[in-house]
Amino acid sequence: MSSATPSAITIGKSVLRPKSSDVVTALFIGDIVGRPGRKALVEILPLWNKNYSPDIVIANIENAAGGSGITNDVMRELSGMSIDVFTSGNHIWQKRDALKILDSYDNVLRPANYPRRNPGKGWCVYKGRRGHLIGVINVSGRVFMDPHQVVDSPFDSAEVLLVKIGLETHITIVDIHAEATSEKKALGFYLNGRVTAVIGTHTHVQTADESILSGGTAFITDAGMTGPIDSIIGMSKKAVIEKFLTGMPRRFEVARSGKVCINGVLVKAYASNGRAFHIERLQEVWQ
Ligand SMILES: [Fe+2]
Ligand SMILES: [Fe+2]
Repeated sequence: MSSATPSAITIGKSVLRPKSSDVVTALFIGDIVGRPGRKALVEILPLWNKNYSPDIVIANIENAAGGSGITNDVMRELSGMSIDVFTSGNHIWQKRDALKILDSYDNVLRPANYPRRNPGKGWCVYKGRRGHLIGVINVSGRVFMDPHQVVDSPFDSAEVLLVKIGLETHITIVDIHAEATSEKKALGFYLNGRVTAVIGTHTHVQTADESILSGGTAFITDAGMTGPIDSIIGMSKKAVIEKFLTGMPRRFEVARSGKVCINGVLVKAYASNGRAFHIERLQEVWQ
């Protein structure tokens, strides 16, 4: 395991520092991939909790069980890890247990813009560790995403949910689970000044474009993943390469050996108005 101080790049710090009582801190964990991701996170998260004292920890769990979906056993394991809200994406439907989990856990989300007939919900308002009410929205992109035919506009879905969340709080974190960088950027600018942060997930590759947009919205195109480094976005390389070479279906498995990266994002905002003043990429390596 590397040092407790993660390598990170920080931009967007404001000159005026708020009073500590007016700061709300959100820690976001990129897509957790299989057992290696879970094992690494259970070691690193206590350090990050200690270092950053977040008011809320949000983690994307669409790949948490065997690299795809969620099971009852894995959900119980994750529930013991000081994670407050779980977001997901297109892979959340892959295992049958998810259907009940999504309807029985208040803090487990699936993209809000999937059909209403699907189990679960795509937003919540969470009471943070120091009492702040924090809205969380999970939406899916449509560009290069399946099943884009049945998924509503993430822009319109977020818009509708913001009205509901706005009745309770002005602090809102959005997980945009999408493939296209342009779609994520567009959502960031569309919601600029109206949400605290727009954080991308799904590609499993952390991007270096974290910024505070003009209206006080923290943005990053992708938070990255929590999974094996010697892999293709968490999966064993051989089968993925064979699929690209042949176009034939292959069974993908989570890469089992080597070091694991834990990727996340830290956002700080004024609790009084929900505007972000700091965003920082977090990267840790564990083995
Ligand atoms: Fe993912
Ligand atoms: Fe995904």
